[in-house]
Amino acid sequence: MKTRNLLFPIALIAIAVIFQSSILIDGNSKITGDVNIPEDVKSVLDNKCYGCHNMEAKSDKSKDKLLLDKLGDLSKAKLIAKLGDIGEVAGEGSMPPEKFLEQKPEKKLTEDEQKLLVDWAEKTADEMLN
Ligand code: HEC
Repeated sequence: MKTRNLLFPIALIAIAVIFQSSILIDGNSKITGDVNIPEDVKSVLDNKCYGCHNMEAKSDKSKDKLLLDKLGDLSKAKLIAKLGDIGEVAGEGSMPPEKFLEQKPEKKLTEDEQKLLVDWAEKTADEMLN
């Protein structure tokens, strides 16, 4: 078979794969906000933070502090402050809370994830200030 004949099906498969993965990412995440959140950051927040920090979460304490599905409702100043808080807890490794990690150790942030969140929060807050 000529290579040219192979190219078309390969291109189709590539397009299908790309489409499917972007649909999956968008479809799963309910994190919104007027802020640039790259997919890798979003995926960490979704997996390790969203469960407690969304409108439907059980604890009012965590909801009072941060709602990842309502970042879009915050003023610019509040959003910058929340980014600061996220960077701080991620850097300290104080979130998710210790008690919760005793039950679900797999939810602990890895060092890479800590760094990813800290760098993102700092960079994004900086950009918004300028
Ligand atoms: C098991 C539930 C749970 C998970 C998972 C969780 N949090 Fe929290 N979070 C809480 C609770 C409860 C509080 C309120 C603590 C308090 O008031 O003492 C809180 C508070 C916070 C605060 C405010 C801290 C402050 O000092 O004001 C931030 C920011 C935060 N969480 C970010 C995160 C991030 C980022 C993640 C993921 C890496 C995360 N949380 C995962 C339950 C959770």
